Parts: sequence; structure tokens; C-alpha cells
Amino acid sequence: MPRPLTKRSPQALKLMLTLREFEAAQVRLPKPARDYFRAGADDELTLADNERAFDRFRLWPRVLVDVSERRLGCRVGGHDLSLPVLVAPMAYQRLAHTQGELALARAAAAAGSLYVASTLSTFTLEEIASVGGPRWFQVYVHKDREVTASLIRRAEAAGYSAIVLTVDVPVLGRRLNDLRNSFALPRGLTMANLAPYMASRHNATLAAFFASRHDASLKWHDLKWLRGLTGLPLWLKGILRPDDARRAARRGVDGIIVSNHGGRQLDTTPATLDALAAIAPAARGTPLLLDGGVRRGTDVVKALALGAQAVLVGRPFLWGLAQAGETGAARVFEILRDEFDRALALCGYRSVGEIRGDLLRCSDRA
Ligand SMILES: Cc1cc2nc3c(=O)[nH]c(=O)nc-3n(C[C@H](O)[C@H](O)[C@H](O)COP(=O)(O)O)c2cc1C
Repeated sequence: MPRPLTKRSPQALKLMLTLREFEAAQVRLPKPARDYFRAGADDELTLADNERAFDRFRLWPRVLVDVSERRLGCRVGGHDLSLPVLVAPMAYQRLAHTQGELALARAAAAAGSLYVASTLSTFTLEEIASVGGPRWFQVYVHKDREVTASLIRRAEAAGYSAIVLTVDVPVLGRRLNDLRNSFALPRGLTMANLAPYMASRHNATLAAFFASRHDASLKWHDLKWLRGLTGLPLWLKGILRPDDARRAARRGVDGIIVSNHGGRQLDTTPATLDALAAIAPAARGTPLLLDGGVRRGTDVVKALALGAQAVLVGRPFLWGLAQAGETGAARVFEILRDEFDRALALCGYRSVGEIRGDLLRCSDRA
């Protein structure tokens, strides 16, 4: 009699063939954590549209091209990555697995990817750095600017190679189930990076934390202040408008992440793939990345065809973590790599650099 497969056994993971299957398998998590990971803002129209936008674009493949040898690698922010997929910054990863950020950072390093650590991590940025691998640090700017300055100095000292400033959270979006659940970190977990600056060890709700600590007054002019704190490259995450992309390019930012925060902030903003199509001509050569709704290798191809150097993937890595920690996250990378490789070959390309916009057309019928 063969032994039944446990959900986390390597054989069971091999039988999970799509990222969607990981989403469906998350039922083990407590409801507040599941709701927090899944949530979009308000009616969740943008959350849904991020994914739908990829279906609106159809691939027009080239045939009779020798694709027997393919290179999936790309260069992002001076790092050679083994595929054009980065891990998006996400708070509270220990809600998915006890090893949280450490497990996901390890999976990213092993996959030849890049891990973006959130300010709101549940391990410290120094602990995450000890895993190794290329890493960037995402910042939210605090009302007490010295907290942000200190975090950036710590990130620089710990070997992070860029700062990602999230610009789409002047105030926190309304995620209805989080409000209903009074969502806060459970006892025993902390916003580890911020613990040294916080008098109370009591975990406030996320909404209360943002309302009391987060600086809603941040403006373009403040980029100068941020630049003065560090020599690290600066990426802006959360740009959707071509005029903002032009402003960012004029101010010499090192890169733009076209993002609507996974549909978690302002509802009814455009899907990020549509925003990327609008922004690419305005970016004046500033490197572009995209996140939001990437669930398939073909999605990665589409983002690259519209001008992104690479994509960031968020929730699917939390699903992988919830399923089987580092091994689950590694399987998510493996599926994306396999799908991307196959999509590249079937589109008639041998490398990431060959992907061109004429591969895509918007389909009215999608
Ligand atoms: C649970 C969760 C926590 C997040 N936390 C952060 C964060 O701390 N900082 C940030 O800039 N973005 C955060 N994001 C947004 C992601 O970086 C990214 O923009 C989004 O998840 C991409 O969409 P996807 O999940 O559809 O791939 C978070 C997203 C999720 C799902």
C-alpha cells in the first residue's frame, strides 16, 4: 500500500501545477490571516481587474524560430537574476508560516531571484539579510522621520542594495474584512523592525498603526531628503499615471514599480498592466517593474512585452509559504519558471531581451 501523500510532501507539491492550486490550499490559516492576505480595498474591483487585464491581452506567437536554447535571466538594478520575477514586499509573513520572511527570502535566493523586505516584516531586516541573496528594503515614511532615517541606515549596513519607497499609502486603504476582524498581529508576533522605536509592546490594529504613525504629508520634494540619507538606488513603488512617471524620471529615481498595491489601496484604479501600457512611453528610459495579479508565466511575458524589465509577485508566495514554508515558496518559483520558459518558447523567443510589444494585442472579447 503506498503511503497517502501529506499536503506538504514533495510528491504532493509536485502535483500542484498552478499558483491557483496554492491559493485554494490555504484553508489551514486562521480566518483573519487569510482575509488579510486576500483582501482588496472596498468592492475589490481593482483586485479582480489586475488579473483580468492579463486576459484582455492576447499573445500572437512567432513560428519557425529556433528556440532550442533559451535564456530566462535578466538584469534588474545591477543584479543578474535567473528569471524576471522578484518577491514583492509583504508585511507579516509569519502569519503564513513560522519561518515567514526567512523562509521566503531563502527560497528567493535559491531561485536566483531578489527579495524585497517590507518595513512591516515580522523578522528584523538584519535577520532577513543573514539569509543572503540579493535584497532591497521597502520603506514607509513615519511621522517621526528619524525612525525612517534609522531604518534606512540599518538597511544600508545590512547589505540591502536599494530602497523601495512605497508611495501609494498616504493613508491605509479600507479592507473591509480587516476592519470587521479588527485585524492586528497576534500575540507573540511583532513588527520586528519597528520594535526598538515603539514604547508599547501591545499590537495595535493595522488601521490604528497607520493612522497614528504614518506620514501622510510626504511629497515629491521629500525625495531630496530621502536621497540625502543614503547613496542606495531609490525605486518608487505605486505609480500609475504617466505624468507621475515623468516626474519620477525628472527627479532621477533609479526605477519605478507600476503598482496599485495589489488592489489594496484605492479601489477602481486601473489594472497595473493597463497602467504599464500608458506609463512605458513616459518613463524616458527609467527602469520599470510591474506587480499586481501576476499568476502565470504568460502574464510575465505580457508585462515584459509592455516594457517592464521584470515583475514582482505577491500573494502566491504567501500561499506557497502557508502550504509548506520554504519548500512551498520554492515550488511557486518552479511553476512560474516552468510556465515562463514554455511561454517564451511558444511565443518564438530565445531570451527575455527579444520580447517585443508586437507580441500583444488587446482583445475586445476577453
Ligand atoms: C498581505 C500583503 C501585505 C503587503 N504588504 C506590503 C508592504 O508592507 N509594503 C508594500 O509596499 N506593499 C505591500 N503589499 C503589496 C505588494 O507589495 C504588491 O504590491 C502586491 O501584493 C502585488 O499584487 P499580487 O499580490 O496580486 O501579486 C502587500 C500585499 C499583500 C497581499
